Amino acid sequence: GGAPVKRRLVILASGNGSNAQAIIDACASGELPAEVMAVVSDHGEAMALTRADAAGLPAVHIGRRAGETRPDYDARLADIVTGFDPDWVVLAGWMRVLTLSFLGWFPGMVVNLHPALPGQLPGLHAIERAYEEARAGRRSGTGVMVHLVPDEGVDVGPVLATAEVAILPDDTLDQLAQRMHAAEHQLLVDTLRRLCTRSLTNGVIT
Ligand code: GAR
Repeated sequence: GGAPVKRRLVILASGNGSNAQAIIDACASGELPAEVMAVVSDHGEAMALTRADAAGLPAVHIGRRAGETRPDYDARLADIVTGFDPDWVVLAGWMRVLTLSFLGWFPGMVVNLHPALPGQLPGLHAIERAYEEARAGRRSGTGVMVHLVPDEGVDVGPVLATAEVAILPDDTLDQLAQRMHAAEHQLLVDTLRRLCTRSLTNGVIT
């Protein structure tokens, strides 16, 4: 009994932040028993930061400094994220590879969203590449996945959830991208709900 305990989320997002917005909205509606502690971006002009600010949440820009190594940036990022004491770190359109000098501080706690099915189309522009392959007759569908990020592999790690998305013969790239993003918003929120409720039912709240 009692009030549900809210899990603490920190979202890392490099760009538009439509997935960050889906999480923020699901927390606000109570659909997700969680609280967004901060949205962090490597790009100061990211719409994701504007969205966080509009929702009254901390919007943190951590830009890469001139000459800064990747591990040094990641250590600085880890410091800031640790300050928000997250239960889960959510990569929602985070477009920088993270090294162990970040990931080592959050074992089993980093969740990534990628617009392709496991083992397919890692890296940038996965939706565009799937669309081109379909136009060339080499695929009839694609999908989205949510997975854990154990190490420096790109868009690879233990899979938490997938959803298939068909590519229709007369799809425009824009139509496909819109269906992909709708699938992502739902899959990410559903998966986070599962993760956030799991710890509750397992009784591991401290
Ligand atoms: C999403 O499609 C996400 O899956 C993708 O970036 C987009 C961000 O959209 N991530 C990757 O490609 C990771 N390799 P958003 O900023 O509107 O949430």
